[in-house]
Amino acid sequence: MTDHTLLETEAIQCKVNGPFVAPALRKVCLPYVPATSAQVENVLKVLQARSGSLVDIGSGDGRIVIAAAKKGFQAVGFELNPWLVWYSRYRAWREGVHHSTSFQISDLWKVSFAQYSNVVIFGVPQMMDQLEEKLQTELQSTAKVVACRFPFPTWAPDGTAGEGIDTVWVYDAKSFKTERGLQ
Ligand SMILES: C[S@@+](CC[C@H](N)C(=O)[O-])C[C@H]1O[C@@H](n2cnc3c(N)ncnc32)[C@H](O)[C@@H]1O
Repeated sequence: MTDHTLLETEAIQCKVNGPFVAPALRKVCLPYVPATSAQVENVLKVLQARSGSLVDIGSGDGRIVIAAAKKGFQAVGFELNPWLVWYSRYRAWREGVHHSTSFQISDLWKVSFAQYSNVVIFGVPQMMDQLEEKLQTELQSTAKVVACRFPFPTWAPDGTAGEGIDTVWVYDAKSFKTERGLQ
């Protein structure tokens, strides 16, 4: 089974197991699958002309946040799993970027991403339509959004990088907000 189908299968299993998991996990079931090095490179490539704040939604072991901080972003990760958050903080300290990173133990559906200029998500197809609506409402029109492995269902991307499971899509908030008459 490929990584791609593995991630989708896990997401479906999570849906089926929905009633047996904690309430915070019922809304979306997003398994921990770390980004490949090529994926991380592709995220940095599509954001190379950008600066300022960056958020990784569901930050796992912190690899995207740490790589972004090394490129000069003030980078934040939101992650539900406390063990991964503590590990990410340790990694950031070990790699010398603890001053330009922060990691929060939070449910992505319960926080607002309004303040971020660059938003990264490595999600699963089952959540992308709901996340599209959330980001469309919350983000400023100057923001950029990067989706890893699975694109957003209705937004038209500004560009892409990589191929296969390492593909990333970049979206301009000005376009998706204008399309919906939100600015
Ligand atoms: C596919 S992994 C991506 C990890 C990381 N962004 C990367 O690219 O290496 C998704 C992450 O989202 C986390 N997650 C799942 N549900 C979440 C939720 N409701 N709020 C915040 N994080 C969540 C998982 O624990 C997992 O670490």
